[in-house]
Amino acid sequence: MNIVSTIAEVRAEVTQQRALGQRIGFIPTMGYLHEGHQSLVKAAKRANTFAVCSIFVNPTQFAPGEDFDSYPRDAARDQELLESAGCDLLFRPTVEEMYPRPTVTYVTLDTLSTRLCGKSRPTHFRGVATVVAKLLHIVQPDEVFFGQKDGQQLLVIRRMVDDLNFPVQVTSVPTFREADGLAKSSRNIYLTPDERQRASILYRALTAAKQVVDAGERDGQRVRQHLLATLSSEPDFCVDYAEVVDASTLEPLETIRGDVMMAVAVYVGKARLIDNFQFHVSG
Ligand code: PAF
Repeated sequence: MNIVSTIAEVRAEVTQQRALGQRIGFIPTMGYLHEGHQSLVKAAKRANTFAVCSIFVNPTQFAPGEDFDSYPRDAARDQELLESAGCDLLFRPTVEEMYPRPTVTYVTLDTLSTRLCGKSRPTHFRGVATVVAKLLHIVQPDEVFFGQKDGQQLLVIRRMVDDLNFPVQVTSVPTFREADGLAKSSRNIYLTPDERQRASILYRALTAAKQVVDAGERDGQRVRQHLLATLSSEPDFCVDYAEVVDASTLEPLETIRGDVMMAVAVYVGKARLIDNFQFHVSG
């Protein structure tokens, strides 16, 4: 795996690979990688011939007081995980390389970025959309890969790519889960052993609420109450939101039908955990 840190280097390498006939798959990440990221690299490699990964802890998606400085970083381990997953090129820019001067240009999305996580993190998706737009312009991949765990992020990026005609295919990969259902996340490292043991409550709440839908419940508010009832069994976990929304607009559903996203966010000690299920209800 080749490792580069400047925009000029990554562009030169990708241009050369493209001239050799390679199809480029791209996986943007913030590092501190895990099996979920490896599954993205493997998917990129299956559908393309050359996999590019970026590791960049993007300051513009963290608000003041959030965990930008303490976000976990382990460059050596990340490199090993990427190599074993089959990554061909790693782009690891500095903040100065990506933002040589204070940014005045942002990509913002009306509505989609203000719902769910956007309520407690109002500038987060502006930062995500902006850095992903920059990375897509820098790498110019044929296909870009994201995990379904960050369901709102995936939707924001799909919509940006569609609205702004980016010539790239966006592909999502299923959430990688621990044996007890907890979605893999770099931020799980913030959990104490006791919190970690109880953190599968997000998955259990989603699973139980989905069973209620499968049994025929179509009232969005009642399903939301089911989510909250399960989450409240861990009283020291503070619920940020528990929602049942339309999967393409993120608007709360009164009646559950069509493409549905059931999403939860919970503060657990120093961590904020999110998870979601997406499914279709016909009728
Ligand atoms: O999901 C992430 O790791 C980040 O939000 C992303 C997409 C790499 C943008 O910084």
